[in-house]
Amino acid sequence: MTQHQRLLIIDFGSQVTQLIARRLRELNVYCEIHPYNRVDDAFLRAFAPRAVILSGGPDSVTREGSPRAPESLWSLGVPVLGICYGQQTMMQQLGGLVESGHGTAEFGRAFVSPSDDRLPLLDGWFAAGNEQVWMSHGDHVSKIAPGFQVYGTSPGAPFAITADPGRRFFAVQFHPEVHHTPKGAKLYENFIRLAGFTGDWTMAGYREQAIQQIRDQVGDKQVICGLSGGVDSSVAAILIHEAIGDQLTCVFVDHGLLRKNEATEVVAMFRDNYNIKLIAADESDLFLGALEGVSDPEVKRKTIGRLFIDVFQKYANRIEGAEFLAQGTLYPDVIESVSFSGGPSVTIKSHHNVGGLPEKMGLKLVEPLRELFKDEVRALGRELGLPQSFIGRHPFPGPGLAIRCPGEITREKLAILREADAVYIDQIRKHGLYDEIWQAFAAILPMRTVGVMGDGRTYDYAVGLRAVTSVDGMTADTYPFTHEFLGETMTRIINEVRGVNRVFYDVTSKPPGTIELE
Ligand code: XMP
Repeated sequence: MTQHQRLLIIDFGSQVTQLIARRLRELNVYCEIHPYNRVDDAFLRAFAPRAVILSGGPDSVTREGSPRAPESLWSLGVPVLGICYGQQTMMQQLGGLVESGHGTAEFGRAFVSPSDDRLPLLDGWFAAGNEQVWMSHGDHVSKIAPGFQVYGTSPGAPFAITADPGRRFFAVQFHPEVHHTPKGAKLYENFIRLAGFTGDWTMAGYREQAIQQIRDQVGDKQVICGLSGGVDSSVAAILIHEAIGDQLTCVFVDHGLLRKNEATEVVAMFRDNYNIKLIAADESDLFLGALEGVSDPEVKRKTIGRLFIDVFQKYANRIEGAEFLAQGTLYPDVIESVSFSGGPSVTIKSHHNVGGLPEKMGLKLVEPLRELFKDEVRALGRELGLPQSFIGRHPFPGPGLAIRCPGEITREKLAILREADAVYIDQIRKHGLYDEIWQAFAAILPMRTVGVMGDGRTYDYAVGLRAVTSVDGMTADTYPFTHEFLGETMTRIINEVRGVNRVFYDVTSKPPGTIELE
């Protein structure tokens, strides 16, 4: 997306670097995060940023061999903002001094007082006197670089805000991107204004540009797109359809593990609202047959992933001239973050997605959402006229109900699960809670228990209910339903779903649990 004014974030490995990008995107500024060890002089020239931000990071500037910004940054002539570690390396590289420890570490809330607020970066910042910020540093700057002046101090950081206004270099010890620095957004706003950004990153603009890019990439070739009914693949499909019309064919695979009415609803949404070529493939016998007798979670996931590739391949072969595969990959999936541990992370679950497809099938990728965050995809969906009921849907995993049915999967259990889930979601909607929850679903537990209904004994399945709040699915909290809500839902499930005589509510957060059961 080269036409946009671009801001470069050099990542030194802070846990909150992504938040810097979020804050900037909210201000209609296009930015990209790149790890410090990939940003050399040639990269900087080619990227041609209008401004650069140096992120925080866990290393110590005082350690030999610790990360640095490329030297040519200082002569690029663009504004630079250093944050925490970014501030420290900036000082060190420009002739100041950073020291470790000596009792000046600060972690958590701190207050910065103004030394001098005549700095464009601080416009309106100290309006109420001292300003609350979030600190997280062990090292501190003990001597500022030549040309810099002090604009703000805190008890642990005599150089909390410094700047060389002539060169437009700014350095802050705290993290303006986090929630606990209440006026952090104002600082970014001032920074991008002084850097001359005009806020040219809008969804309408993005839509136009993405359409042109898809046309340039695809030419007159055919594209296939796996549609799951989720927001990402739906938005990708509609955008691509706008770009190339009938050259796009979507494939919706019903693996027999979808929720109640899901296949019908997704297919109807596309057929009624868009004139997109759509193959609705009922492959439930194939998937459920292969899963018979399988109870190990990883074997389930891998079986489904493998069959999905086979099925997709089968339909792709029927589309003459298919050269491209469209995917709804998002920006958080492509950010290459700095890993200081170096080792591979542990596989908790083998995620099912179509990532393994192109290599095996020899297709090139079209990924029109790879520069967007999830909420931007939703905004683009709105821009494209996707119904709100679709845009606001809770995430649904590729392996579907298989991972909400711990133990062996049977058609009987799936039927019970579908009904219980439908009642539960209906309850949540009726109480107006759907949009407050990141994800809610029912699971069927691998046990039967004894109950009493009417005058008789029952020996039936137990259903587990789950509802979590989350920002990105990486961590999650249980949604605090009232006892009244849970009681009413239990009654409805037992009365309306045959084969269930007990209902549990899962109160496990993530970690230690995961969101799905398997
Ligand atoms: P977990 O269970 O790992 O889930 O805490 C985190 C989020 O990811 C979704 N999820 C998946 N999504 N394919 C997907 O497309 C998968 O294999 C998969 N497994 C989990 C899950 O629903 C939650 O939103």
